Amino acid sequence: MKTCVLLLQTLIVTFALSGCGYALEEMGLFKTGEIILKTPKVNEFSESLIDYYVVRQTALKTCFECHTTKAPLLDTEAKIYEHREDIMATVESGDMPPIRKGYQPLTACELQILRSYFDNQTNQRPAQRVKELSACTEGTKPPTQPTSPVPNPPEQTPQPDLGQLELSFKNLRTAFFDAKCLNCHSSQVERPKDPMLDSIAHILAAKDYTDKSITVYKNGADSLLYKITVPGLTDTIMPPARTKVQLTPAEADYLKRWIDAGMPE
Ligand code: HEC
Ligand code: HEC
Repeated sequence: MKTCVLLLQTLIVTFALSGCGYALEEMGLFKTGEIILKTPKVNEFSESLIDYYVVRQTALKTCFECHTTKAPLLDTEAKIYEHREDIMATVESGDMPPIRKGYQPLTACELQILRSYFDNQTNQRPAQRVKELSACTEGTKPPTQPTSPVPNPPEQTPQPDLGQLELSFKNLRTAFFDAKCLNCHSSQVERPKDPMLDSIAHILAAKDYTDKSITVYKNGADSLLYKITVPGLTDTIMPPARTKVQLTPAEADYLKRWIDAGMPE
């Protein structure tokens, strides 16, 4: 029993020391400006058992750039396990790490590493080796193909002529806003995204991440709510690019004219 405890202590000390060394090493490796130079190298771990160290060096590598200071804090093994459901949900949907800040979504292999890691902990199963995971068996080929489900573009049903349609929130919603925006930005969905856009009051109260209102009174052209739906008008796009859904020019134009008209009910 004594030897066992001793052994354990040695292990912990070794782990802590090597962890520290790697943290230092990583500082130089992360990012230059907005471009990621190093995507985590899964291949060099193909023989490794999937443990906290491997997860830190692969799937969760970028997270430590922000989540050692930003909530949710993910700076220890225990906290990461505690937040496992939120973590899986955000990385699977491609919301984290933030693509708009120049990060790559997790690869299929990294997602499997993470799933397997949490699953082993929950079920107290011994760890697999990275190369045993189906998405990580590509040998030297860098894993690509993220598995995050990309919703199919909605069926092309014949559109009402938006040019003729009376400007109202009700018409906006039925024409395309429900299907293309409120599927994420409404309290009716399981993981609603900020800002809430499911009522005029919510839209008026909504702020962008710089704390500016997303609408300018009777000025669609200057309103983020409109601009964000048109490629190139902002540094991002809604719906998010990964969904492969966009507003048609007629839809974006209807949204703009609805704001111009003072956002009628
Ligand atoms: C560039 C900084 C940055 C990086 C890198 C980053 N995050 Fe985040 N994360 C944020 C910010 C800011 C928020 C809060 C705002 C938001 O939800 O968009 C957040 C929110 C979250 C949340 C809570 C929101 C939710 O939807 O449940 C989780 C969980 C999360 N991040 C996990 C991760 C994981 C896992 C990684 C690495 C794969 C990661 N983040 C990488 C900045 C970052
Ligand atoms: C698949 C889910 C999804 C859909 C569909 C979607 N959004 Fe978003 N939206 C998000 C997420 C996630 C964020 C926060 C992260 C970000 O800013 O990239 C966001 C953020 C925003 C913001 C705030 C941006 C900022 O800079 O703070 C606005 C405004 C917005 N969306 C409008 C829209 C509009 C308008 C539509 C429909 C044309 C739409 N979204 C469709 C997921 C979605």
